[in-house]
Amino acid sequence: MTFVVGENCIKCKHTDCVEVCPVDCFYEGPNFLVIHPDECIDCALCEPECPVEAIYSEDELPEGQEVFLELNAELADLWPNITEMKESPADADQWDGVEGKLQHLER
Ligand code: SF4
Ligand code: F3S
Repeated sequence: MTFVVGENCIKCKHTDCVEVCPVDCFYEGPNFLVIHPDECIDCALCEPECPVEAIYSEDELPEGQEVFLELNAELADLWPNITEMKESPADADQWDGVEGKLQHLER
């Protein structure tokens, strides 16, 4: 089991999540974070930390976001590790809850 970063992180990227992870398994892309599924210990600490509720247990991913399980695994191998919180994008609030954000994912 792993936790998964879902669609609402795209262009919101608040990074509160990385501060609580005991195994430092978050990886950072240009406008999205992912969790490495082989490193996550399923502790659930990060889930309530995300201000836009973008983190899910893999068995609770909302309908239509199943693709994010694969995406987290794929991108965690490509992107650098992140362990310290940084400033959110200036327009993060405007993107909270916007549908269809997957098309804005930058690699
Ligand atoms: Fe890290 Fe725990 Fe979240 Fe997994 S569930 S990403 S181990 S904080
Ligand atoms: Fe993304 Fe939420 Fe973390 S917006 S960077 S999953 S705190």
